[in-house]
Amino acid sequence: MDAAEAQRRAAGEKAAALVEDQMVIGYGTGRGAAAALEALAHRGIRVRGVPTSQKTTDLCRRLGLALTTLEETPQLDLVLDGADEVDTARQMLKGGGGALVREKIVALAARRRVIVIEEAKLVPALGATRGLPIELVAFGWKSTLLRIGEILPGVARREGPLSDNGGVIVDAPLPRELDVRALDRALKSIAGVVDHGLFIDLSPTVVVGGTAGVRILG
Ligand code: 5RP
Repeated sequence: MDAAEAQRRAAGEKAAALVEDQMVIGYGTGRGAAAALEALAHRGIRVRGVPTSQKTTDLCRRLGLALTTLEETPQLDLVLDGADEVDTARQMLKGGGGALVREKIVALAARRRVIVIEEAKLVPALGATRGLPIELVAFGWKSTLLRIGEILPGVARREGPLSDNGGVIVDAPLPRELDVRALDRALKSIAGVVDHGLFIDLSPTVVVGGTAGVRILG
């Protein structure tokens, strides 16, 4: 196991410990989320959860974690998820795994958001290590891409399949000087943009696995 995976596992255990018996939760997508879900399954408490991707649905079935939907339970107690980057104000960039639309819907449905990361994901400013994932409606995606390129030059389609929603995932480099709230509004005003990976002002509890152990931010 490499150092980052060991850090995620340690953080995942601490995150899973925040879940209480009978809670209805969100099941995030990616390695950080998986570390928390595996630890949660080992606890053996009774929870139900809404998965944020097909991959997570499959994982939960393997782990024996009960599934539900937002139709059955539109409000969740908590969500366990990961992130690609977290800045000093705990604003987050997500969507590296292409599940950002469902992850954001689930994050907004939850009273508490618990994010599992390794310390390399802590950045001084969002966009430091990767571009911003954005999901587009497949219809007319090339036209939508051109419009995004007017505000985020260099945006490009990601290699790989469509998202679980049948959307096209693109990634856009972020400028150094970034007003995340203004960018959120600008992207959301472009027809054909389903959502983007800026998860802002969500006051997450960030569980960080590091060389000196696990610390909790927020
Ligand atoms: C998926 C996500 C993931 O939470 C994010 O990409 C982090 O993944 P990992 O924990 O595997 O590094 O947003 O859409």
